[in-house]
This record gives sequence, structure tokens and C-alpha cells, in this order.
Amino acid sequence: MNLEKVIKSEGVTAVVTSSDITGRNDVGPVYDGDPIFPKKAEYYGQPLFAVAAKTTEQARKAVLKAKITYKTLKPVTTIKEALKKKSYVLKEKIIKKGDATKAIENSVNRLNGSFTTGSQEHFALEGQTAFVIPQEDNDYKVFSSTQHPSETQQVIAKMLNQKSNTITVETRRIGGGFGGKETQSFIFAAICTLLAKKTKHPVKLRMDRDDDIIITGKRHDFYSEYKVGFDELGVIKGLKIKLASRCGISPDLSEAINERALLHIDNAYFLENLLVENYLCKTNTASNTAFRGFGGNQGMMAIENIIDHIANSLKKDPAEIRRRNFYQKKKKNITHYNMKIEDNVMHEIYDQLIKSSNYKSRQLSIKKFNEKNTYIKKGIAITPVKFGISFTTWHLNQAGALVHIYSNDGSVHVNTGAIEMGQGTHTKIAQLVANELGLNFSRVKVSATRTDKVPNTSASAASSTTDLNGAAALNAISKIKMNLSAYIKRKYKIKNGEGIYENGIVKFKGKSFKFNSLIKEAYLNRVSLSSSGFYATPKIHFDKKNFKGRPFLYFCYGAAVSEVMIDTLTGENKIIRTDILHDAGKAINPAIEIGQIEGGFVQGAGWLTMEEVNWKSNGQITTHSPSTYKIPAASDMPEKFNVEIFKKGKNVEQVINKSKTTGEPPLMLAMSVFYAIKNAIASVGNYAFYPNLNAPATPEKILMSIDKLKRKI
Ligand code: MTE
Ligand code: MOS
Repeated sequence: MNLEKVIKSEGVTAVVTSSDITGRNDVGPVYDGDPIFPKKAEYYGQPLFAVAAKTTEQARKAVLKAKITYKTLKPVTTIKEALKKKSYVLKEKIIKKGDATKAIENSVNRLNGSFTTGSQEHFALEGQTAFVIPQEDNDYKVFSSTQHPSETQQVIAKMLNQKSNTITVETRRIGGGFGGKETQSFIFAAICTLLAKKTKHPVKLRMDRDDDIIITGKRHDFYSEYKVGFDELGVIKGLKIKLASRCGISPDLSEAINERALLHIDNAYFLENLLVENYLCKTNTASNTAFRGFGGNQGMMAIENIIDHIANSLKKDPAEIRRRNFYQKKKKNITHYNMKIEDNVMHEIYDQLIKSSNYKSRQLSIKKFNEKNTYIKKGIAITPVKFGISFTTWHLNQAGALVHIYSNDGSVHVNTGAIEMGQGTHTKIAQLVANELGLNFSRVKVSATRTDKVPNTSASAASSTTDLNGAAALNAISKIKMNLSAYIKRKYKIKNGEGIYENGIVKFKGKSFKFNSLIKEAYLNRVSLSSSGFYATPKIHFDKKNFKGRPFLYFCYGAAVSEVMIDTLTGENKIIRTDILHDAGKAINPAIEIGQIEGGFVQGAGWLTMEEVNWKSNGQITTHSPSTYKIPAASDMPEKFNVEIFKKGKNVEQVINKSKTTGEPPLMLAMSVFYAIKNAIASVGNYAFYPNLNAPATPEKILMSIDKLKRKI
């Protein structure tokens, strides 16, 4: 690597390479493997050095003057190649329940097949960016667009060989993360800090969209092979499945993501005999990472495909076969990881939606439409969602908070580890706090997430942000209330009962105060009006090695019916109508939850129909801008979109407000779109043959699937 001309280029103030890193040259969250600047480039687009200049343009010009010669090695780029060469980032995992082989042999019906789901680029509106200001004593103030300030702090401290107390990371809010800033933001914050250190100036690093997409990891694509045995009713008796994922060059979060795929291979279905082999393929592509659903959706797509296949082979309505395989309430309620399901509302949601969407009559009219129309075909499908909530890594299920009430006006300042990324967590936490203090929402401010206010935070992820951080904030409030209560009781000689906080008034037995006057009085009497708070999720435990335990505090349930239309001459497709019924428990903020359900669904539909990441055989990504990578636009929304929150929803567990999160689960409602497309394709062969279709169902794939089907007729 010859950087002479780069260094001399106009406006350049610093160039950093691996030799500028005195500490850990890695940003890997669990295992090493994600070098900041590598000794050996392992994927196309991997950063090797960075430049600071007076202007962005000068920096971009300078970078191009580098002379780099590579010795080309033979890359492994696909899952199949990696499986053949046994190229893995971690050891394979095998999970077992009952005797699948025997159960399949003894079944009256058997099927086998293979299935893939594709990768997905996060495409947050705000890309990867960081801004670092050097402070006194070689300290650094780091502004990072990240879902994980605490780990950003640790990564930078280790890179600089400095203590964590010299690095402060602050995140006001981010323009979307979707899992793409859980770890993938670290390298940019780290490089930006290196440049700030070398220049002794504030430095901002904001990636060009193409570079952003080229450098960072995406959703894991998955390949599965299955063998299933089932009875004449379509009830699964035994299932053997091989699940392989493309992890890229390093483990990053792949272990937890594959684990979540294994934990959701059942979706809503009781599996009596199961054998899963899971391979974490190492490929010479950017290291794949967290993405809304976190592997759960990939596991669920695999089982949905199997159920759909079974229904087709029995010539039955898939809606019926799905329901027949559901977990039940009193029996058939133990998962393959030995967790008893105690909050099952799947049947209620499913049955209500089948009715409210007129699924059955529409199914008939779609069949009639298809008989009359040669080129345009319609399809319909209903799919269920059951998604487990909690980090499967036990210790991450904790959160902290810091709450101050200011003495002069009673306004409330809240800080937690929660990152606002558009999902509305700051609004929801402010609501919870305001409600707990009986105050108007406008009296509460949630400030920027900062590592020097609340330390050792978990990533805002796993849909658990508000559950954890909201509970920690309420814990802080309860401590302040205890201080207030102790003072009031002492001062006014009140014996029993606690204060009731409502409409700006605090009522004790026989005495009530305006909130503001109470706060002022408490201050003048030297009562602390500030507290930290903490929360750790109860009940959960999981033995990763034996794959047994209770990894989740609760489950989120939902179902969707989608109707699609395809053009059999071009493969073009659109969603005509989607009906969703989703369980948000006792929703904290229904408008936000509806937004999450709609957004999650559309993002899932993008994953399953139009977003396609492509690589050349040498591992070079070819889909790195909106001109080659298509994400859903407003016009791709279902023409009719009926989204409803399940009215009877209530979290049976002790979760804030008895609510259920809506962060990730709605993404999986989009499975209905994929199987509706498959249903439309099947109509081309009068439903006699099962179409071969992998996700994403792009127009090309739909056309090829129709082509194959026509050859069978
Ligand atoms: N919604 C918006 N608008 N932007 C996002 O980045 N991320 C999703 C989901 N919804 C995301 C979003 C992901 S991946 C997760 S894990 C959750 O929000 C995180 O927020 P929560 O824990 O508050 O649900
Ligand atoms: Mo979400 S994939 O857990 O950031």
C-alpha cells in the first residue's frame, strides 16, 4: 500500500492506517474478526486506511490517489460453496427434540425440498456517520449514529488503549437503524476517533451511500433443506431441517442471529419431533449482521414454506393446515426448547382475522377471477406470527435510567440507555414517566442517550428498548416518590398510604399538594429529587449449550391476510389488499404501534419481494445504490391496508403498562405476501403443482417459477 500521493494531496491533514492503532484493531462485539484496518483484505470494499482533509471533496480526491496492489486469493462467496468447503465462522449446531428420523419414516406422508430467503440492506435514511471532538487529557467526545453507545465507547477505549472513563459517547437520535447500527456503526466511530486523535481537531465522518452499502453487513440470507413427515390431516409428525446462513467474514452477531432462527423454526406450530442442523457459513463478503427480526424471520419463513408445501400436496387450504399445527393451550404447548407457552392468543387472532378479512369468500372469488383471466392472476394467503421477546443472551436484559426533577418548576429530565431510532421509544418513555407522576406529557424531557449519564447499556435492539428502559425509568421515579413520601409523612404526621399522582396534584391521606409546590417544598427541606433506576427482566434463563430454558419473557402474536396480483407475462406483482390483526398488549401509544406495524410489514414485504442483494462470483457487491437496489416506495404499499391492534390484547407478564412491543414482530406479517404470490403462481397450473419459488419473489423469479410450472403442465 503506497499512500505517498494521498498524504501530499491538497488539503489533507491526516492519513491513518493500521499502524496508527496502538490497542485493539478490531470492533467485533463478541468474537474478534472485524478489524478496523485489516492485515489481509477479506472482502471487496473492506476499508484499509482513512483520510482527513479540510473539505470532504479534498478527502475524497486524496483517497483515490492510493496505490494498492493485491495478491488475489480464491474467495468463497456463496452458502453452497461454503458448505462444500466447510468454511464456517463458528462450529455447527445441532438441536434435537424427540426422534425426527423415526417419526418421518412412520408418517403416512413425506415431502422434501429446499428453500432460500435473501439478504437485505438496511437502507436507513440516515447512513453511517460519526463526529468526534478531542477533549482535555486525551479524552474524546464521540457523537455516533448508533444503536449501541456503550459498546462504541468500549471499542474506542480498547482501540486507543485508554480507560472507558476517557470516552463519552452521545446519541441524540438516529435516522433509522433497523439492526444496521447495532455493531456496524463501530468501525466508523473508531476511524473517526483515530482521525480526531491524529489531527487534534474535531472530525466528521459520513459515508457516501454507495460506500456505506459496500462496507457494511446486511441481513443473513439462509438456505434450508427439509424432510417432513405428516399425517392425512397435514399435522407435522417429524421434521428434519438443515439451516445454513451466509455470515460473511466474521462471527459479528451471527451466533445469536442463527440461534434466534433456531428458536423460531416453530413459528406458531407445535413440533413434536425435530432435528435441526445449523451451519454458520464464512464467506468473503461483508460481515452480515442484525436486521429487524434478527434471524427469527428466516427461521419462520423456512417452516411456513414447509406448511405451504404440505397444504399443496394434500390439496387443502393452507389456512386450515396452518391452524391445525398451532400450539394449543392445555396440551401441545411446550416448544422444542422446552419453554411452556402460557400467553397463547394465536387462535383468537387468526379466527378473528379470517372473519374480518372475508378470507373465505375472497378466496372463492379469486379462484373465479383466475379461471376467467389468462394473464393476470390473483393469490391470497394468511400467515401467523409468534415472536419471542427478550435478548437470548441473558445478561443483556438489563437497563438503567437517570431521572431529575428540577426544584424551581417541577419539570422532569429523563435519561436512559434507549436510542430513539424512529420507533418512538423516547415518546413512549416520556408518556410512562408523565403518567407515573400525574403530569402533562410536555413536562417531561427525554434527553440524548449518553454513556456518562447511564453506563453499561445494552444495544437498543431485540424489540426490548422500551420494555427495559421504560421500566428502569419507572424504577427511578419510584425511588424519588419514596423520598417525597417519607418527607411528607414525617412533616405532616401522616401514617398510612402513599401519594396518588394525578392531573398535577399529589394526594396523601388528608392532604394534597400541587405537584410544583410539593417539589419546591421538598427541595427547601433538603429532599433528593434525583435518582438512578435499574431493571432486569425476571423469569428468563436459557442454557445455550443444551438449547433448553425460557429465553423469552413473552411472545408477540399477529396474523396477516394478503391478496396479490401478478402479471404472468412480466412477473410484475402488487399487493392489492392486506389485513393485519396484531397483538400490542395494552398498547402504550396506539398511533406509534400502528406506525411500527405498517412500517414493519412494508419492510418485510420489501425483503420478500423486491429487495435483492447481488454479488459477482468474486464477491463484489453489485447492488450498492438505489439505482440497482429497490426498496419499497409509497406506491408499493397495499392498495387497501387495514391494520388493527388486537383489542383484547394484554401482556400476562409484568411488563410496563401490560404492553407488548411492536418493534420487530410486524415485519414477519409480510410472509403472507410471499405465500399469496405463490398461491397466484400455483393458479397457472390449476393448483395441481407446487411452484418452486425462493425469496425474494422478484419479477424475474416469479416469471421463472411460472415458466417451470408451465413445463410441468
Ligand atoms: N422503526 C424505525 N422507525 N426505525 C428503526 O430503526 N428498528 C427496528 C424496530 N423498528 C427501527 C424501527 C428494530 S430492528 C428494532 S430491534 C426495534 O425497532 C427497536 O426498537 P424497540 O426495542 O423500541 O422496539
Ligand atoms: Mo433490531 S435487529 O434487534 O436492532
